[in-house]
Amino acid sequence: MSSPTSPADPTDPKDEMNSTDDMDSMDAEFDTVAAWTADVVSGLDPDQRIPAGCRGSGSPGALHWLLDHLAPEAGEVFLDAGAGVGGPAAFAARETGARPVLTEPEPGACRAAQTLFGLPALQAGTQLPIASGAIGAGWSLGVLCTVDDQPAYLAELRRVLRPGARFGLIVYCAAHPGTLRLEQPEGNDFPTVEALEAMLDGASLRVVSSSWTDHFAAFPADWEEVTSTVHAELERRHGEDPRWQVAEEQSNRMGSLLSAGEVRGRMLVVESV
Ligand SMILES: C[S@@+](CC[C@H](N)C(=O)[O-])C[C@H]1O[C@@H](n2cnc3c(N)ncnc32)[C@H](O)[C@@H]1O
Repeated sequence: MSSPTSPADPTDPKDEMNSTDDMDSMDAEFDTVAAWTADVVSGLDPDQRIPAGCRGSGSPGALHWLLDHLAPEAGEVFLDAGAGVGGPAAFAARETGARPVLTEPEPGACRAAQTLFGLPALQAGTQLPIASGAIGAGWSLGVLCTVDDQPAYLAELRRVLRPGARFGLIVYCAAHPGTLRLEQPEGNDFPTVEALEAMLDGASLRVVSSSWTDHFAAFPADWEEVTSTVHAELERRHGEDPRWQVAEEQSNRMGSLLSAGEVRGRMLVVESV
């Protein structure tokens, strides 16, 4: 575990990569492109950084729904596990006054969250550097399907929650068991809703409310404008780089699965029992 404090390192060997050989698609999407995004987004106003920093977490309506159910108090520590570059955590802080603490395995994403939003980000994956029972509220958005050992991830979340604490999840779920009809992003494993409920039960996390991301309006026009401007600038700077192309392929595959209804975003508020 470490707490990165320095900006993206231009001497990082990954920055010299020029072929897709041995490229890890998850690193490309969640580390390299996260660091590139921070470079582009740091030129924007603070309020514009939030939409550009939400990667897979749903719309403002979905985030509000979760926050209404979680009701963190102003000043309360709010865990964002698998926080990416920190847009959702910054949104939670702005809307509720809660004090986010981020965990995220990719160092480029940790540095981005610190640079863009000044949020504390601990570099950690499934093992959280947090005492048992220390957390009263938080969320983990769009993360579970990217985790190798999903029951262990949920058990670890349960470990750090206080008894009775509420926690929000967005979990991308397969619409049917078995092989998906479209190609899926590498490194992802989408449980069915039934499998997810069984895993939550096994982790002693009781579902208190649920919904679907597609029940909420998509990004509003101002959010859409920011994300397309940032995307265009990233493409202009890095479009020829194989890591950008791999990350785009990952993101396009996810978009196709969602549009085809093969995968849907399940939203859950769970309580630690
Ligand atoms: C789709 S992104 C979502 C990021 C952020 N939650 C958001 O909604 O903007 C998935 C994130 O999960 C992180 N991740 C992957 N494996 C993880 C693990 N074992 N524990 C915590 N986070 C993990 C990835 O690095 C990535 O940042």
